[in-house]
Amino acid sequence: MSPTSPAGSPPDVGVVVPAAGRGERAGAGEPKQFRAIGGVPMLLRSIRPFASHPRVAEIVVVLPALWARKPPAWLAGVAGGRLRVVSGGDSRTVSVLNGVAALSPACRVVLVHDAARPFVSVETIDAVIHAASDGHGAIAAIPVSDTLKRADATGQLVAETVDRAGVWRAQTPQGFPRSQIEAGYQHWRDHGAVPDVTDDAALVEAAGFPVRLVPDRATNIKVTTADDFVIAEALAGQ
Ligand code: CTP
Ligand code: MG
Repeated sequence: MSPTSPAGSPPDVGVVVPAAGRGERAGAGEPKQFRAIGGVPMLLRSIRPFASHPRVAEIVVVLPALWARKPPAWLAGVAGGRLRVVSGGDSRTVSVLNGVAALSPACRVVLVHDAARPFVSVETIDAVIHAASDGHGAIAAIPVSDTLKRADATGQLVAETVDRAGVWRAQTPQGFPRSQIEAGYQHWRDHGAVPDVTDDAALVEAAGFPVRLVPDRATNIKVTTADDFVIAEALAGQ
């Protein structure tokens, strides 16, 4: 048994999987989340470790409207009665908001995990659930190891080298006590001018809550470009 899933802990975790994007940077073809990696659709790979986790009560998959009307049959197969499907919005933020709204009140802890990360480990999921169950927002993240440069206005010349000390790359899953992620999204709605954000922790931070860093594995890549599919195929073959 996992040390973070003590006997008797009720399944009170709701997982929101935003999968309503168009995958434009991945190139032409069907949206990247439905493409196969090692013969298995990326979205299915991304959901599987949550579907078999003892703390997970519900998985809400947020799909493009057309797909939400007729979800792929393999989706029901992986999560059974714990699965819900809802339609996404024009931005990831709205898609996640739709997903959180679809969770039943029994879900006291909310995890958000991008459909574009098909190689998340159970250890990372456990650590994020552990922190969020303790009352703290927590994000899977990796300390930056590359040297960072800021470009000038032309985008072609280096303007400066950026100090990378203390800089982390935010990944998913990201987990929060439900009240905190709801407060984060309420804050976002109240400040209509806030530009679209690329992760959920940014909203929870803006609402004034501390967010913990959970060291993640480099294999939990986000599949964004055609090159990432090459890396993903190699990871799937291991
Ligand atoms: N996403 C979503 N709703 C949107 C936009 C994105 O649910 N309106 C989801 C994507 O499906 C993905 C995750 O958010 O699982 C992270 O987004 P990203 O990697 O940027 O995927 P896309 O937006 O699909 O890709 P691109 O930006 O290249 O079009
Ligand atoms: Mg996007």
